[in-house]
Amino acid sequence: MGHDTVETPNLSFGRGGEPGRGTPYAQYVRLEELHSLQHPRSKEPAELSFIVTTQVMELLFDLLRHEWTQARQALRDDDLTAALAALRRGTHVQDVLVESWDLLATMTPQEFNSFRALFGEASGFQSSAFLHLEFLLGNKNAALLNMYEEMPGTRAELAEALRESSLYDEALALLARRGLGVRPEPSEQRYRPSEEAAAAWRRVYTDPEYAALQPFAEALLDVAERVTRWRQRHLSAVKRTMGGKPGSGGSSGLTWLRKSAEQDVFPELWTIRDEL
Ligand code: HEM
Repeated sequence: MGHDTVETPNLSFGRGGEPGRGTPYAQYVRLEELHSLQHPRSKEPAELSFIVTTQVMELLFDLLRHEWTQARQALRDDDLTAALAALRRGTHVQDVLVESWDLLATMTPQEFNSFRALFGEASGFQSSAFLHLEFLLGNKNAALLNMYEEMPGTRAELAEALRESSLYDEALALLARRGLGVRPEPSEQRYRPSEEAAAAWRRVYTDPEYAALQPFAEALLDVAERVTRWRQRHLSAVKRTMGGKPGSGGSSGLTWLRKSAEQDVFPELWTIRDEL
């Protein structure tokens, strides 16, 4: 029996890119820069997983923002098909975000303690990419912009996100255009659930005239559930590595995170389930 030989790919690729900057692959994905960004401050091997996990999640937060921004634009354009496609892409990003917690699954309190003091007051709570996602969901909080006084570009971007309508505002606007009596009122404050919005979603689930919107409601719920799943996995990681000690960002730690994880995203989509 003969063996198929595997062809060797091209090893003398064209030198189209910048001279001296490596393979086309290295240039395209900026490999050297990417692999030069991990700087543990201790000799504890687990610190590298902590830094890489955080960086991976930061990149995925930005990718998710990209998908949700596209979903919001599609809703503004009244293009439900495009909105659903973007939400679906985002859902897969969220699944990877949730699974990314596995990278930290084995970290012991001793390992964590051996580098904790070296990152000082750093906390994921200060993540502007995460905050941007929160604003897109409708969880707005202008006071948090004060964290970015020394980062005027970031602050300006977040201020803009605060002014813009959220993904959920646009979802409600779509329901309004379809004749469901809801009056979305985009605001710079945290979204407050309303009986009108609940009634509109209830009709989506119970009135055959609006049944075509049910997959949209379920897609939003898929998003909401995964936001909470990420928070629950974060909570478990915190419980496992630092128990009930206060957080490096100045919160009470577990108690604060538990409260945050209990807040439902797109609240009416959950509350109406009592009656469906
Ligand atoms: C075992 C590792 C981790 C521990 C012990 C931990 C601990 C904490 C604590 C105690 C808080 C509350 C705020 C504070 O006082 O600091 C917090 C918030 C937060 N952390 Fe972590 N964290 C860990 C890993 C991560 C990673 C890898 C990320 C990814 C970027 C992350 C992102 C966040 C975010 C976004 C918040 C705000 C959460 C919210 O608003 O619900 N954390 N973390």
